[in-house]
Amino acid sequence: MKYLDVEMRDMTIEDLPQVMEIENLCFLHPYKEKDLIYEINENPVSNVWVIEYSNKSLGLKQIVGFVDYWVTFDSGTICQIAVHPDIQRSGIGTIMMEEVKKDAYAKRVKTLTLEVRESNVKAINFYQKHGFVISHKKEGYYSNGEDAIYMILEVRK
Ligand SMILES: CC(C)(COP(=O)(O)OP(=O)(O)OC[C@H]1O[C@@H](n2cnc3c(N)ncnc32)[C@H](O)[C@@H]1OP(=O)(O)O)[C@@H](O)C(=O)NCCC(=O)NCCS
Repeated sequence: MKYLDVEMRDMTIEDLPQVMEIENLCFLHPYKEKDLIYEINENPVSNVWVIEYSNKSLGLKQIVGFVDYWVTFDSGTICQIAVHPDIQRSGIGTIMMEEVKKDAYAKRVKTLTLEVRESNVKAINFYQKHGFVISHKKEGYYSNGEDAIYMILEVRK
């Protein structure tokens, strides 16, 4: 999975500091390190990938986003997707989402679903741009009482 100067690959334990930085910048209730370690090492249904920017002439490598999605039989769930705030809205999220869809199709997943905070307008826009539709609201889903919007995508080639 190689695109110009960004590459998507499996997340490793060594990536934790950079991914935790993105988590903490992006979420009100971020994953804790132990959650990510579980997702990488133990969870049999998770796919945890990072997207890394590299500039060979500057000798620079930087993780700019990550995604955690689960596959259980013919269902996929996007648990977490985030792009570093400095580089949001430059297509990184789209690269990750396209890979998730491709991987889901290859694994014969029929539907991808997710929950998103009702107030997270940019993420709702992002998912709608990728073909997700709003199914229903889950009232009081988050610990601060906020409702979740449940979204669904039929996976196609
Ligand atoms: C949601 C997120 C992953 C999108 O990643 P991204 O790299 O910024 O998105 P892209 O650049 O690929 O944008 C694709 C589309 O998403 C929508 N979008 C992205 N950012 C947006 C914004 N700030 N406002 C409105 N729509 C936005 C647009 O439709 C955009 O297409 P356009 O630029 O042609 O209009 C990113 O904003 C993010 O990390 N947010 C914080 C974490 C988060 O909320 N994750 C989702 C939890 S459910």
